[in-house]
Amino acid sequence: MNIRNVEVQKNLSRKKEEQIISISKSESPSRDEQDIAKDKHSPNIAFFKIYRWNPEEKTIHKPYLATYPLDLSSCGPMILDALIKIKNEQDSTLTFRRSCREGICGSCAMNIDGYNTLACIKRIEPSKTNQPTTIYIYPLPHMFVIKDLVPDLSNFYAQYKSIHPWMKRNEDEKNIREYYQSKNDRMKLDGLYECILCACCSTSCPSYWWNSDKYLGPAILLQAYRWISDSRDHAIKERLSSLEDPFKLYRCHTIMNCTKTCPKNLNPGKAIAEIKKKLSIFNRITI
Ligand code: SF4
Ligand code: SF4
Ligand code: FES
Repeated sequence: MNIRNVEVQKNLSRKKEEQIISISKSESPSRDEQDIAKDKHSPNIAFFKIYRWNPEEKTIHKPYLATYPLDLSSCGPMILDALIKIKNEQDSTLTFRRSCREGICGSCAMNIDGYNTLACIKRIEPSKTNQPTTIYIYPLPHMFVIKDLVPDLSNFYAQYKSIHPWMKRNEDEKNIREYYQSKNDRMKLDGLYECILCACCSTSCPSYWWNSDKYLGPAILLQAYRWISDSRDHAIKERLSSLEDPFKLYRCHTIMNCTKTCPKNLNPGKAIAEIKKKLSIFNRITI
């Protein structure tokens, strides 16, 4: 480590000891933060304001924002790199989920600067001014929080289970051979199979915020459509009938927050519209 970095580290440790748990949501950096930024040895500092809540301390603390200064010159480029560095070097009690570190597992979904996204594929944006950048990080919105950045996804997974996310075959066509699929039929799954169930879309949907006990939400409906679209599956009628419900499906009002926020660039809003279209055709045939 060169002398300059040593100085920065020393400076950060000193500031850490004084730390800096800022209970307000103040938009402008605090005096401590400005002092660090002005320090000629800290040209590349960012401030991470992170939602903290520990159920074991709930009688002591309400949820609050803690501020962590970080020297970006010694940190990886992604928000998850910053969170891991903060946990390793400043506060081991900071709690968040992560696993793959490459946008595959969906564990690190959180709200970063107002957008639901994956911390491992979200870059730390450099400051566009000579002021240090400040990044706000919250858990996925409108979910019960287990601790810090970890939301309770029990209801979300129960809803996933409710759509029977597995292949269903007619009894006489089960286990007879491989289930072949034409290239064209396989292509119908593109834009659906890539969903990693991160819940970014569902937790950005106002309809889901207010009715998550009854409305399935965009992630689960996209998954439902994935099975409805699979030429090897024989339960299309059963699947469509089970979605025919004023809450499960029709709470979607095509606001499209879901599609805007999906970190995998999928289009759950379109998948929901396709289910509605299939249901109207299905109902016309069966009347
Ligand atoms: S559709 Fe996109 S945002 Fe929604 S759960 Fe799947 S990957 Fe996540
Ligand atoms: S399109 Fe439907 S599912 Fe997507 S955000 Fe809007 S209401 Fe929610
Ligand atoms: S850690 Fe797996 S998606 Fe971010």
